[in-house]
Amino acid sequence: MGGGVVPGSLVLIGGDPGIGKSTLLLQVANKLSYNLPRILYVSAEESGQQVKLRASRLDVGEEEGKENSNGNKNKKKNNGKVETARENNLYVMPETDLEEILRELESLKPQVAVIDSIQTLHFAALTSSPGSVAQVRECTSALMQVGKRENITLLIVGHVTIEGAIAGPRVLEHLVDTVLYFEGDRYASHRLLRSVKNRFGATHEIGIFEMAQRGLVEVDNPSELFLGNRDEASPGTSIVVACEGTRPIVVEIQALVSPTSYTSPRRSTTGIDYNRLQQILAVLEKRVGVPLSKLDAYVASVGGLGVGEPAADLGVAIAIVASFRDRVVDPRTVLIGEVGLGGQVRLVSQMELRLKEAAKLGFKKAIVPKGQSFPSDMGLEIIPISKVIDAIIAAIPSEKSGDFPVIAEEDEI
Ligand code: TYD
Ligand code: MG
Repeated sequence: MGGGVVPGSLVLIGGDPGIGKSTLLLQVANKLSYNLPRILYVSAEESGQQVKLRASRLDVGEEEGKENSNGNKNKKKNNGKVETARENNLYVMPETDLEEILRELESLKPQVAVIDSIQTLHFAALTSSPGSVAQVRECTSALMQVGKRENITLLIVGHVTIEGAIAGPRVLEHLVDTVLYFEGDRYASHRLLRSVKNRFGATHEIGIFEMAQRGLVEVDNPSELFLGNRDEASPGTSIVVACEGTRPIVVEIQALVSPTSYTSPRRSTTGIDYNRLQQILAVLEKRVGVPLSKLDAYVASVGGLGVGEPAADLGVAIAIVASFRDRVVDPRTVLIGEVGLGGQVRLVSQMELRLKEAAKLGFKKAIVPKGQSFPSDMGLEIIPISKVIDAIIAAIPSEKSGDFPVIAEEDEI
């Protein structure tokens, strides 16, 4: 949230059904209730009983030192600190009727209210059904008015359909102060909370969580999630350092190229931008002389973290070449740089942060664009390069410059 939640602001939390929005917000509401006297959780999707079941699974509302139903003393320890949940501070209201909710907000005057979800609220004065654009818009602006008037922070959940056609929440994005998206692979346990709009702070920040038995747990060292097994590095993998907002994350890139059995070769990406892959393949073919036009190419980022940044280009290029030549890239080397159309490697932002993260995780070498500035002692051996071909020679030690006929170097831009 860029330093905290601004009182009286309206935050929209979007995400696919089942991704964990209700879980996250119940945990957040619970944590807030440690320090704030009145937190309201409006459940418009689940009955009071269902919320209670979830709450007990998450240890929500259990007072420290209180006897629970098994007769055990329930002590919550978090980093050695004992946290005290005052269960009387967290109010749960199973309700779908907008006017009832507005009345409750005005009489209880909570500091924070969670509305789960906006698509299931119903404003009786409108004939359209819950979830329709008219209902969603009307309910949001009514909530917003009360929120601003009473200085209530509203955390509103919106479902996003699988196809990403966000009929509901998208129409709200311009109305609200902050938009967070909760995403991740439903079949893998980690989840990303991404800020896509923030009137009060930086956007593109992310929070990384793991869905565990007892709810969401913050991941302390996210880079480890996105690294494959480094002890048995296989041909065609490389390591990049992506920056999500101000947060650097080390991610493994995997590439597989193989002769195609189609008339036009297949190109496929997971977590990497498709057009950038096409561009990198063209640069490798034309500028470095790697004959890829008759080969299928598959490129993926491990753990499914989307790496949209150009700074990952160099890692993608090296992974492709390594797969093509069936070589292993030194597993202790990270690659950072944008690949230009002329085969040159271009400077990227936030280099210092990226190098620090790599050093922290035990990487030994970094191949970076020449001319990039950062403090001299980063705890890594730095290899500055200016062309993709130089990066290939540095990253795949057995490569010699003669291995690739460097084409069209003279008409480089
Ligand atoms: P939920 O918060 O209901 O998702 P949303 O509100 O976005 O629709 O999350 C549902 C999923 O989370 C469900 O598949 C079960 C799983 N889950 C856990 O793995 N551990 C838990 O402690 C809880 C409460 C849920
Ligand atoms: Mg839910």
